Amino acid sequence: MHIDATEKKWFYISLVVTIAIIAILTFSAISTNIHPPSSVEKVDSNRLHLDGEFKEDNLGVKKNADGSYTVTMVAARYGFYPQRIEVPINTPVKIRMASFDVLHGIHAPFTNFNTMVVPGYISEVNTSFTKTGEYPLFCNEFCGLGHDHMWSKLIVSEKGSN
Ligand code: CUA
Repeated sequence: MHIDATEKKWFYISLVVTIAIIAILTFSAISTNIHPPSSVEKVDSNRLHLDGEFKEDNLGVKKNADGSYTVTMVAARYGFYPQRIEVPINTPVKIRMASFDVLHGIHAPFTNFNTMVVPGYISEVNTSFTKTGEYPLFCNEFCGLGHDHMWSKLIVSEKGSN
């Protein structure tokens, strides 16, 4: 079978590029510890407000016995509730979120707090914030006409001030 020399050349070039891309992805995923969520937790979006972890009374910031914090939030058109959360700097924070309605995303600029909030599932982010200040929390998945106005506030305070 005859394969044209130019075709052969491009075959090898595309093979090399493919292998290079896979190698770069593998290397960066391992070296910077990027990984998909490791557990799946389901929740009934229709019943969030009635009972359990995401009931209105249970939302907000809680300090745990070991000094870490747990933040429970709900995303709903068009806001994140509660609309203001405050946690101390350099402290482990576990953020647990669920959507009331459609797909949302939440993102605090200049931090690694960034996740999709998919209806029917609980999103969990474990992080600690390394700079004090006031951060806006934006929705970064288009969720309807009010998407641009869907935001709330994260305050990272000095240790001991709350
Ligand atoms: Cu919620 Cu866009």
